[in-house]
Amino acid sequence: MNTIEMKDIHFSYTEKEEILKGINITIDERSTAIIGQNGAGKTTFVKLLKGLLRPNSGKILLNGTDIADMTVAALAKDIGLIFQNPNDQIFKNTVLSEVMFGPLQMGMSKAQAEESARKALEMVGLMNMEKINPYDLGLSDRKLVSIAAIVAMDTKVIIFDEPTIAQDYMGKERIKKIMKDLRAQGKIVISILHDMDFVAETFERAIVFAKGNVLLDGDVKTVFSQKDVLEEAYLEQPSTAKLCHELGYGEIFLTPEEFIAMKQKEA
Ligand SMILES: Nc1ncnc2c1ncn2[C@@H]1O[C@H](COP(=O)(O)OP(=O)(O)O)[C@@H](O)[C@H]1O
Ligand SMILES: [Mg+2]
Repeated sequence: MNTIEMKDIHFSYTEKEEILKGINITIDERSTAIIGQNGAGKTTFVKLLKGLLRPNSGKILLNGTDIADMTVAALAKDIGLIFQNPNDQIFKNTVLSEVMFGPLQMGMSKAQAEESARKALEMVGLMNMEKINPYDLGLSDRKLVSIAAIVAMDTKVIIFDEPTIAQDYMGKERIKKIMKDLRAQGKIVISILHDMDFVAETFERAIVFAKGNVLLDGDVKTVFSQKDVLEEAYLEQPSTAKLCHELGYGEIFLTPEEFIAMKQKEA
């Protein structure tokens, strides 16, 4: 089983303000959503996981190895991060060369890289777009290219930063399926999200960040049951949970399907 342990992580960009104030989290095989208000430190947190930033103090262990002792190249083989804005990630002029870039950097042969890239493009549903320039695609498909580019590297850990921004219903459903498939392959899937319904439908665990601290951490149902604590972090419950709360139920349900199943059992 893959794990990432964060032990008392402190981080600041400037001397004036500490952004992360002692984070202790062990990420395990459960798919994990990171939620919290803008500016709470979520992106900073995932950049530390990826080794793009180094903590001021504290340790991050990937399967027991301190990532401070790993080279950037070694870390890149284990941890993939899909940026919030695909334009910050994409730089090649065809979809296929973009998605092959990471695998080639990792030392795969051209044939292996191409095979890996094609598999990743199939997973995200962009099989017939290999020769297209990513910048001729809409933002939603360009996001899928940036996801495929990381998936193709076959890392143990895949981190998404706000993947559902600018996605319509179909795009969100596709991303949900990609995340579930990656989880089923045994990868650690971590995502920053602002869409609570998407979190409720897709993830096992939720971690709530507020002002550089972890406010809540647990399975999604437990986290989303705590309306008052969520409000401290300026978060809403997912819509089905809100409905259960408004109806005065003691237990919340996470999705309309769960709610309907409960109602049908009652009837
Ligand atoms: N490169 C940077 N230099 C200085 N401050 C930064 C930098 N990046 C982010 N911050 C600050 O760190 C805090 C946390 O930012 P961030 O991790 O991006 O939050 P989130 O992803 O939760 O919205 C914010 O107050 C932000 O302004
Ligand atoms: Mg962010």
